[in-house]
Amino acid sequence: MANPVLIAPSILSADFARLGDEVRAVDAAGADWIHVDVMDGHFVPNITIGPMVVKALRPHTEKVMDVHLMISPVDFMLDAFAEAGSDIITVHQEAGPHLHRTLQRIKALGKKAGVSLNPATPAKMLDYVLEDIDLVLVMSVNPGFGGQSFIESQLRKIEAIRKSIDKLGKDIRLEVDGGVDRSTAPRIIAAGADVLVAGTATFKGGQGAYAANIAALRG
Ligand code: DX5
Ligand code: ZN
Repeated sequence: MANPVLIAPSILSADFARLGDEVRAVDAAGADWIHVDVMDGHFVPNITIGPMVVKALRPHTEKVMDVHLMISPVDFMLDAFAEAGSDIITVHQEAGPHLHRTLQRIKALGKKAGVSLNPATPAKMLDYVLEDIDLVLVMSVNPGFGGQSFIESQLRKIEAIRKSIDKLGKDIRLEVDGGVDRSTAPRIIAAGADVLVAGTATFKGGQGAYAANIAALRG
């Protein structure tokens, strides 16, 4: 069974000129986690932020800092993101040949470990790591940009991963990222997700709208 649904606003859609203020605003508006999208211009065609920004944001919230690394290679940056104050570090299955080693390193650093799958990557790629991780992140758009449309085929993948998690019986969160809004959220939750990342759907309308935007996603 899925846990109560958590909402993780992606600060990719925040005002980058005042990120600390934006993080405080979504925290106050009811965000459960703060989702941080890290892009390297190599694994994905966009560049965002690094560990220095995670460190700078850390004093602005006590919420879980959910750091989504869209970078390759990734291992050489794990220590820096851990030291910066990340709570969950999620890496892409597609980012390198030694996923198991990467996950071991994240756990050795005392952090929760997540694995993300791109839209074309099958759920079965998790078969030999699921028991070792805390979170699965299903990408429901091709990573790199906010504001894209939800890819419907990912609902089947969410259902399959929900079954695997329930069969295993471990406390593993199933998070979905990309194109989450008030029309797609109910279907994503019905498929078995229990954490919704939302960039555009959280930050539209300015700070006065964040609480209603977040509440509308909970289903
Ligand atoms: C995309 C990022 C997402 C993105 C989602 O590569 O991983 O977190 O910010 O944006 P929306 O919610 O606008 O689809
Ligand atoms: Zn993300």
